[in-house]
Amino acid sequence: MRPGSSSKLLFTPGPLTTSATVKEAMLRDLGSRDREFIGVVRAIRERLLAIGGAAHGGDYECVLMQGSGTFAIESVISSAIPHNSRLLVLVNGAYGRRIVEMARIHAIEIDVLETPENQKISPRAVAEHLAAAAGITHVAVIHCETTTGIVNPVEEIGAVVAGAGAVFIVDAMSSFGAIPIDLNKGRIDFLISSANKCIEGVPGFGFVLARREALLGAKGQARTLSLDLHAQWAGLERDGQFRFTPPTHALLAYHQALMEHEAEGGVSGRAARYARNHEILAEGMAALGFEPYLSREDQSYIITTYRYPAASWFSFQELYSRLSELGFVIYPGKLSQEACFRIGTIGQLCAKDIENLLAAIHGVIGQMKQRCVQEV
Ligand SMILES: Cc1ncc(COP(=O)(O)O)c(C=O)c1O
Repeated sequence: MRPGSSSKLLFTPGPLTTSATVKEAMLRDLGSRDREFIGVVRAIRERLLAIGGAAHGGDYECVLMQGSGTFAIESVISSAIPHNSRLLVLVNGAYGRRIVEMARIHAIEIDVLETPENQKISPRAVAEHLAAAAGITHVAVIHCETTTGIVNPVEEIGAVVAGAGAVFIVDAMSSFGAIPIDLNKGRIDFLISSANKCIEGVPGFGFVLARREALLGAKGQARTLSLDLHAQWAGLERDGQFRFTPPTHALLAYHQALMEHEAEGGVSGRAARYARNHEILAEGMAALGFEPYLSREDQSYIITTYRYPAASWFSFQELYSRLSELGFVIYPGKLSQEACFRIGTIGQLCAKDIENLLAAIHGVIGQMKQRCVQEV
């Protein structure tokens, strides 16, 4: 917690700590058919395309979708993949597995290429799979697999997918806005992210940056009403409005967040702050004796996974609760095989916040160790 604030600091994958000005932007009501609101929605869509390197009027369209990020992913999976198609899901963590689950629910035929959770997906393995398996029409991958913090080589995979003539779907939920990603270079057909990640808005909607041709192809093939990606886009294009009630306050906050993103220097400015946050965290946690799950070269500055220390004094639940009482929220692990916890370095956090978190961890584990000695 910062002095004078009632908000805890969130060292998580989202929702994240937001600036006071982003929160303040929500302190008014605006009608969803109001001209000002429609202008805000238009500006958000244009700015998001620019961040993806696809300025308005190019080959890409931006579709905003109510709900959390998963809803936006499901809108793509359930709208953009026609019957008689086959989706290859590249999995090295829980969010890849979530796409598999989604596809199964929508009765989409799938192939799964599994890579261990501590390894990046290999473009060569993808090429080999595409060459060996017949009939794959779509490929989905996670950019930053937030399960661990590993970043998959999306541009190289995109080249392989384009070479095979398949449609490329990228979940860039926890990376968009902080790790450079170029829609054209990555040959990306659908990129998905959400409001409460690296642009530092509040939860309430996700968005899809879609190649126009691929988006037009999704017309009439949605498997749900509310997550119909093409219909949502067509509505926004027709009169600038959402088909169903939009998260007005979250959109006002996001508009402000996008301006703050630009003022910080866009993707590179944000990347620099997050990278510094991560450096301080990595050094401090190493000094406290915590072992990261990923090797240094595979670790991104988005979120860092730490193994539970193999020591009798350690209890994640206690560490979590005691830190939370002090105003610092860390995050449990999500690995399929190992007991880990995670610390995010994204959101409105700076070097001082990371240093304060490290000091709090130092204090809490010191007490935990001491109590353990006394109990023996
Ligand atoms: C890579 C990735 N995909 C999907 C999601 C799901 O997003 P949400 O929890 O907003 O539905 C997350 C959430 O952290 C994520 O990191």
